[in-house]
Amino acid sequence: RMEIIVLPDADAVGRHAAGIIAETIAAGPQPVIGVATGSSPLATYRELAALAARGLDVSRTTAFALDEYVGLEPGHPQSYHAVIDREVTRRIRLDPARVHVPDGSADHLEAACTAYEDAIAAAGGVDIQLLGVGANGHIGFNEPGSSLGSSTRVKTLAPGTRRDNARFFGGDPEAVPIHCVTQGIGTILRARRLLLVATGAAKADAVATLSEGPLGAYCPATALQLHPDTTVVVDEAAAAKL
Ligand code: GLP
Repeated sequence: RMEIIVLPDADAVGRHAAGIIAETIAAGPQPVIGVATGSSPLATYRELAALAARGLDVSRTTAFALDEYVGLEPGHPQSYHAVIDREVTRRIRLDPARVHVPDGSADHLEAACTAYEDAIAAAGGVDIQLLGVGANGHIGFNEPGSSLGSSTRVKTLAPGTRRDNARFFGGDPEAVPIHCVTQGIGTILRARRLLLVATGAAKADAVATLSEGPLGAYCPATALQLHPDTTVVVDEAAAAKL
């Protein structure tokens, strides 16, 4: 079942998405949320921070991030460890010990990927997974062609994704790492609820395809059609091609 909610603008999308996540957190007792990087969820994190400041108890919330670049030194400001710490952990005041990001600088990346899957399972699985979507339909860093049953693993970034993310690396696509570690599409589908946010005209094609297009690895976000409890919250610009 996919529910699609169209709201006027990005702020309204953030407020609505934050409200849904806050319900999951409030339901406790040991809520587990999946968090995403990218610009799309930032308004959601701002609103969640406001709700936490107004008394939403986040102290027992565990969080798992979707992905990480391979090969950035720990502490690089654009590593997803740093981004999640800045935008999620500190803003919402989550307990840093309960916030997990895949390890992109491990000597043994495959073992680190398995350990990440094990950590999610040990936490009882993800109650609600927040997602953005790439212009090419990627979720996490599962680029087109990714297996719909995949688990956390090392992937190569699509050239278009490196161009899209060059803005975080001084505008130079070559400065964007080539490889990443990402939860698989199978991992994402194991979350009990999925919540995808998208705003702006650049996402209109991806939003139309993920909700109405045929299911397939050409657009990883179409995998959301397989999930029994998916909510897609978009602004009018991103909904333009529905
Ligand atoms: C990034 C992230 C994704 C994110 C997507 C869209 O590369 N790995 O998790 O959803 O691209 O980013 P944005 O929201 O900035 O458009």
